[in-house]
Amino acid sequence: MKNQYLPLRFVIEKKVDETPDAKTFILRPHDKDVSKLRYKPGQFLILSLPGYGEAPFTFASCPDKDGKLQISVRKVGALTNALHELKEKDVIGVRGPYGNTFPLDRIKHKDLLFIAGGCGIAPLRSLIQHVFKNRKDYDEVEIIYGCRMPRDRFYKQEIKTWQNNPGTKVYLTVDEPDASWNGACGVVCALFPKIKLNPRTTMVFLCGPGVMIKFAIQDILKLGFKENSIYASLERYMKCGIGKCGHCYAKGKYVCLDGPNFSYAEMRELGIDS
Ligand SMILES: Cc1cc2nc3c(=O)[nH]c(=O)nc-3n(C[C@H](O)[C@H](O)[C@H](O)COP(=O)(O)OP(=O)(O)OC[C@H]3O[C@@H](n4cnc5c(N)ncnc54)[C@H](O)[C@@H]3O)c2cc1C
Ligand code: FES
Repeated sequence: MKNQYLPLRFVIEKKVDETPDAKTFILRPHDKDVSKLRYKPGQFLILSLPGYGEAPFTFASCPDKDGKLQISVRKVGALTNALHELKEKDVIGVRGPYGNTFPLDRIKHKDLLFIAGGCGIAPLRSLIQHVFKNRKDYDEVEIIYGCRMPRDRFYKQEIKTWQNNPGTKVYLTVDEPDASWNGACGVVCALFPKIKLNPRTTMVFLCGPGVMIKFAIQDILKLGFKENSIYASLERYMKCGIGKCGHCYAKGKYVCLDGPNFSYAEMRELGIDS
């Protein structure tokens, strides 16, 4: 029987500095067989580093035909610090993909609104890249992205290309401006009056700190966006990622299997809407 915990080997092809405490890792399969890890936007992987254990990370890029993938990692503890110290060409373990995908079957030919806070832009980036790769399948796109300070914004260069994409509006905000910043200040909700999309026909995707998700959902509901068109990508403590250990269990659901992407209606059922 196949060992579900056995990781595949991936090579660090490139490390990109995103913020003072976060890097993006571009990974390529070590083995020639690139078909082993096929994922869709919204899913996550479990990365392993001998001596440090395992941790879940969201796929931060859309699927690539050569099997390359990207993860963006904030340094918070032993494993993530060790990962940041690795060099290009070093080898790590990856198992997955795990979890559900964003509801790709529901978003074609719809307007799309993305709302992200801090490193919460990472899972949304996999879907945003997918949308831009298949641009004719989607209508208007608006992206609202807030960070604590300008230096905490991920994907600074790529966001400029999003801003230039026809039919796309990007609104950025920071909590604490510095001398370099002449954009909006304040929480993401302060930018909601700028939204031009029709609330009745728009799909909304959120990811960020719990408090941001809570208040952003409250405010977009007031604007008329529909409960069953709002999806949030949630982070919960996880160990196995495959529904065995129970670490992520909440009210009859395993976040690692049934999530991490939930509609607002599902979040209310799980009691995680506030
Ligand atoms: C589905 C999923 C996707 C994730 N995607 C990403 C990602 O794309 N990029 C990224 O940087 N991180 C992501 N995380 C969080 C990441 O897994 C943790 O930061 C990682 O486990 C930290 O490992 P560590 O050994 O470095 O730190 P640890 O020593 O394990 O933890 C350091 C600190 O972070 C806290 N922490 C650890 N895990 C979590 C968690 N899941 N939620 C809240 N706090 C936590 C701990 O309580 C502790 O305070 C994701 C988590 C989940 C569940
Ligand atoms: S992480 Fe083990 S059951 Fe979900």
